[in-house]
Amino acid sequence: MAADTVRFSLLHRTCKLVVLLCLLHITVTVFFYVCSLDIRFSFAQNQQSKNESSSAQAHRVRNKDVTSGTEAKVVEVKKELVPQEQNRVQTRPPEELERCPETSPLLVGPLRVEFNRPVDLDQIRKQNPDLVLGGRFKPRDCVARTKVAIIIPFRKREEHLKFWLFYLHPILQRQQLDYGVYVINQDGDQVFNRAKLLNVGYLEALKDYEYECFVFSDVDLIPMDDRNTYGCFSQPRHLSVSMDKFGFRLPYNQYFGGVSSMSKEQYLKINGFPNNYWGWGGEDDDIFNRLSSKGMSISRPSGDVGKCRMIRHDRDKQNDPNPQRFDRIAHTRETMYKDGISSLVYRVLKTEKLDLFTKITVDVGKP
Ligand code: BGC
Repeated sequence: MAADTVRFSLLHRTCKLVVLLCLLHITVTVFFYVCSLDIRFSFAQNQQSKNESSSAQAHRVRNKDVTSGTEAKVVEVKKELVPQEQNRVQTRPPEELERCPETSPLLVGPLRVEFNRPVDLDQIRKQNPDLVLGGRFKPRDCVARTKVAIIIPFRKREEHLKFWLFYLHPILQRQQLDYGVYVINQDGDQVFNRAKLLNVGYLEALKDYEYECFVFSDVDLIPMDDRNTYGCFSQPRHLSVSMDKFGFRLPYNQYFGGVSSMSKEQYLKINGFPNNYWGWGGEDDDIFNRLSSKGMSISRPSGDVGKCRMIRHDRDKQNDPNPQRFDRIAHTRETMYKDGISSLVYRVLKTEKLDLFTKITVDVGKP
């Protein structure tokens, strides 16, 4: 009996010790995890502040907004003290500017992207004082290496668009691009046609400026690393290569959906995009087929740099999976010459040059 009691009390003490050790282990792990977050984000912040002061071009610390969506406070750095005119005087005349470096010194690397707190347009405007009407930007201190039009197919996704603008504008500016954002809004309630809207965006953007490069982006996809350049490469580029929705990997090797980019030449070589994919799916596979039939390959950033987050949402109304997509994809090589930018028909109903983007509302017809 006494031996049993001794054994029980020994077991009891051992269990207590194990529980205590577990608690200690958890505490230490949580402590180091929290510390590592602090270090990472303060590193990103320092990096950004250093770059901004050396280039003397930005007067607000923006990376805090980007690296931490939930702490979206604007940190003013003398902006109120520096009159607008004085800002301009600091900029050298365009003919004296050098070409921007191949890798922008303003990049900070991995970013924290969150969607749990709404953002508002006023806040985004304040955080991006260098934007010009229509959502246009050029670096002040160097000549951008490329002129990029960002085309976003759109309908009734205002909340997603705000997140896109909130995260992307600072990133694109740090990438030192000469860019403009074009939101192509499908009018009416007919079935959605993503690829046709992209074709419209291509033509309409070119009416605005001599763009050389086109980035086609869904409104709900946000890159998690600013080294993922929204520009063009010697081959068409797929940018959203590791999406959280697909467990941060490509769903299949030929996948070309989400965010992609093409130079004007690459786009024209494939006669643009198909106009007859109504509803969800297939149009990106058709574009892939067009590219590969023209002997082009897909370039991609690494899985790390190409990480991105998708804003979760229910499927849009009038965008159900297109049952004809499999049949259409099977015939891309025969149809691509008659269906594309060369056969595009649409009607612009309204063009609005807003502070953060250009919104073009179009009638693209119906199936
Ligand atoms: C569709 C594509 C889509 C992909 C990933 C494919 O079945 O045809 O349009 O991007 O699935 O969701």
